[in-house]
Amino acid sequence: MTQKRGPFIGGNWKMNTTRDGAAALAAAVADGLHSDGPQVAIYPPFVWLHATRPPKDSRLLLGAQDCSPEKNGAHTGDVSLEMLEECGVSTVLVGHSERRHGLKEPEGRIAAKLRAVLGAGMIGVLCIGETLDEREAGETDQVNEKQLRSALEGTKIVRKDHLVVAYEPVWAIGTGKTASAGDAQAAHEKIRSVLDDLLGSDAATAIRIIYGGSMKPGNAEELMSQPDIDGGLIGGASLKAEDFLAIVDAASA
Ligand code: PGA
Repeated sequence: MTQKRGPFIGGNWKMNTTRDGAAALAAAVADGLHSDGPQVAIYPPFVWLHATRPPKDSRLLLGAQDCSPEKNGAHTGDVSLEMLEECGVSTVLVGHSERRHGLKEPEGRIAAKLRAVLGAGMIGVLCIGETLDEREAGETDQVNEKQLRSALEGTKIVRKDHLVVAYEPVWAIGTGKTASAGDAQAAHEKIRSVLDDLLGSDAATAIRIIYGGSMKPGNAEELMSQPDIDGGLIGGASLKAEDFLAIVDAASA
């Protein structure tokens, strides 16, 4: 893997775990990290953020799966960045397909969330990716470009290490089907060229583009050895500390 960009590994726990299970999983991940290696974040359910807050001396980052783009006010059920910050959160997933497609979250709202996350000085993980129909119609690159442009146009990138793009083909999420390393690399390379066009070549070189969609210990190393794949966003395999840590180790390999 190119060492120009330090890898990023995120564990997206989705709507899983009990309070005790979450605390134990977070502790096992924090304990299992070596003193160096990729940047690693966990994204537990909101209600377990307090229970999973890593110890002060840990380099494990605590993340949130979503946030409100608004500061505060009459937004029933939403959670603000200020609240998340108070829980120790320093990174947020934005536009995950289960919200973008599953809940029909509009692109404008995704862009507003990303701006808010970056404006709060946190790491924003912008999730993009095509559905199976779009892939079969040969539209993967166009879909990724459209989602990237709508989220990033007009967004000021002050810290390049605070924007992570997660390419997650929707058909690969939670299905056990993974994009081949070659197909994923081709999509990442194209995404980087769009970043170059939107933000300039320094930013395009520095911004991490990670892969998500049924990444597991058995395929992580091959995927992450591709020149434009800078880590992974892991769902199912992040719920077992041993598997998640094996993927973290594969990113260091
Ligand atoms: P998966 O989920 O690893 O279970 O496919 C990835 C994601 O949704 O981020």
